[in-house]
Amino acid sequence: MSFRTIEWRDDSVIMIDQTRLPGEEVYNTYTDFKAVAEAIKGMVIRGAPAIGVAAAMGIALGAREIIADTHESFFRQLENVCDVMARTRPTAVNLFWAIERMKRVAGDNRGKSLDQIREILKKEAIRIEQDDLTICRNIGKWGATLIPDGATVLTHCNAGGLATAGYGTALGVIRAAHEAGKKIQVFADETRPWLQGARLTAWELMKEQIPTTLISDNMAGFFMSRGEITCCVVGADRIAANGDTANKIGTYSVAVLAKENNIPFYVAAPVSTLDLSLSDGAKIPIEERHSCEVTHIKGILVAPEGIRVRNPAFDVTPARYISAIITENGIVTGDYRSGLRKVIK
Ligand code: MRU
Repeated sequence: MSFRTIEWRDDSVIMIDQTRLPGEEVYNTYTDFKAVAEAIKGMVIRGAPAIGVAAAMGIALGAREIIADTHESFFRQLENVCDVMARTRPTAVNLFWAIERMKRVAGDNRGKSLDQIREILKKEAIRIEQDDLTICRNIGKWGATLIPDGATVLTHCNAGGLATAGYGTALGVIRAAHEAGKKIQVFADETRPWLQGARLTAWELMKEQIPTTLISDNMAGFFMSRGEITCCVVGADRIAANGDTANKIGTYSVAVLAKENNIPFYVAAPVSTLDLSLSDGAKIPIEERHSCEVTHIKGILVAPEGIRVRNPAFDVTPARYISAIITENGIVTGDYRSGLRKVIK
């Protein structure tokens, strides 16, 4: 990969600033956990697995910032650091998964010195980042088997290297198919309002020289109905026990259009995106973001001042529209309730 989404370097966290892509490739340096939390809220880093990595690294930074004489005081303050991270974005369960993993590691090492615990937390955050890369490559390997040679693959939002520690989930599947020598091309939905498809997916795929065509979201049905799309692959922010999947707003419309046109619709996600505590997608919390993301494009007002706006950042695609869920531990089809339980291990 010719870019690095996030890394721990010299006791700081470095992130590529996704708010400035594709125009500028700028790396920001973070040395305090509150700034990391703001970066997650402000979409400097986004995408479910990447948010999880950022939260873990933010907690590791926070642990270093804590001044405490006793373990009790340290753990109380660490709880506060975790709460700040948990309040950043509500939908991607990877955030909460990473926070719980960091808490568990800290708790398991309570008997050690505070400096040792800080070091253990740093190592755990780095491990989460490194593991994610391996996980995405495995998702890619499984998923590539579903992509025929010569396919045109439609994707929505950005579930690529930028949304993970690198390689990507949906784009991991596309990358792996491409690396296997299959002659594929991609149709990337622009993904209003934040334009992850136009700004990030198109940027990533062009860098890799994977043939890519950018379309606006309302064009997907046109190309499907003309037989120009072979299959759809998207990422996920949270998958409920029955397979219902929250992903970027507009995913549901793509899935319904795919079914109408008999086109397979695949979800690619690590098992850390599964939330088997929720029986179905209706229970997934959906983030609503600021109205200016809808009324403005690059700071320019594109709607009448004062217009009422709704801006849900995600929607839920019912499992019946999903042909398969691709994880690092295998592909689940059919009965998601039992299949997802098996891959989570
Ligand atoms: O609001 P975002 O940009 O964080 O939303 C991202 C998505 O919806 C992705 O498709 C999802 O997180 C999967 S990323 C591998």
